Amino acid sequence: MITSVMPTYARAPLSFIKGEGSWLIDENSQKYLDMGAGIAVNILGHAHPDLVKALHNQAENLWHTSNLYNVPNQKKLADVLVSETFADTVFFTNSGTESMECAIKMARKFHFEKGMPERNKIITFEGSFHGRSIGMISAAGSEKLTKGFGPLLPGFVQIPFGDHDALMSAIDETVAAILIEPIQGEGGILPVPDQCLKGLRDCCDQKGILLIFDEIQCGMGRTGKLFAHEWAGVEPDIMAIAKGIGGGFPLGACLATLEAAECMTAGTHGSTYGGNPLATAVGLEVMKRVNTTEFLKNVNYLAINFRQSLEALVANHPKIFKSVRGSGLMLGIECVIPNIDVVNAGYDCKILTVPGGANVIRLLPALNISLNELKEATTRLSASASKLEASL
Ligand SMILES: Cc1ncc(COP(=O)(O)O)c(C=O)c1O
Repeated sequence: MITSVMPTYARAPLSFIKGEGSWLIDENSQKYLDMGAGIAVNILGHAHPDLVKALHNQAENLWHTSNLYNVPNQKKLADVLVSETFADTVFFTNSGTESMECAIKMARKFHFEKGMPERNKIITFEGSFHGRSIGMISAAGSEKLTKGFGPLLPGFVQIPFGDHDALMSAIDETVAAILIEPIQGEGGILPVPDQCLKGLRDCCDQKGILLIFDEIQCGMGRTGKLFAHEWAGVEPDIMAIAKGIGGGFPLGACLATLEAAECMTAGTHGSTYGGNPLATAVGLEVMKRVNTTEFLKNVNYLAINFRQSLEALVANHPKIFKSVRGSGLMLGIECVIPNIDVVNAGYDCKILTVPGGANVIRLLPALNISLNELKEATTRLSASASKLEASL
């Protein structure tokens, strides 16, 4: 026996039928405070009227043409991304994994075109997550992701997170790129210190290696800047994004400098749906709302307040919670008891959180959540912690 939906997820027994801002309503009309936002996707909450309108307007005109032709919304969104970031050019995809695949292909082709095909190795970090394709599980390399799926794609070397010496000894004439999430998401909300990102940039510059950032989870305003790496003042050569850019509609992108992307000529890469009119109509509207000084200032304001209340929460429940970490509205609470028990107890108190690596629960709310809703989140987390304490 097998379920009609392939059972690859350990799903919570909840079925939502409607969303409003930071709230989800299930089939029994129960309202849940959504602190996961579809794993950092619904950055403007559920059913944002401007996104609904943008999608509706586009749906009435044209859904899909393929990339055989120009897609006007794609060009508009690429222009915005190019003007607001380090990048000179953008390839659109439907997901984070695909954005990462484009990044890896580009890094290898870059060196191939320069007459150095032996430079094809990509250095990655233990605990990282870049997607579920054969390429991207090979990149992350953990047994949890790769077991049973071999042979894996060769050419990836994983270094322990934060191990400078291991990194230095892995660098040689065969390295094409270093790939890193500025804040590890699935790994358990582990920020890379600014000086390490700077060090990676310097190292890549000295050795002729490309630097690739995976900002699929930490990008799009989540840390209070448009992209997390901006805090460190360093820029990548290539960057993969997805999740927040579509606000809930499947959309991703691979951004690159002119130099890195010169090798990506016609016929080298493609996608039937990537950047289709519907997805890019929504992406444009998301960028318009998120990429303003006021919006990002408000994310920082919310984040400072929320973090303070979470620190107090942790101090009040030492048998359940250990510490808070992260940046902006990408926060993790390391748990004392199994994190999944905390997530499940949250369901009873009508709050949704996301489990992560290193026994962390992730809090990745919509970026336009209100201060009152964040206070309510702390109250509900506290109530679920009290229930758990009573059962210890
Ligand atoms: C940092 C990071 N990279 C890549 C991915 C893969 O993205 P997708 O599931 O959209 O393919 C994820 C998804 O959680 C992610 O968090």
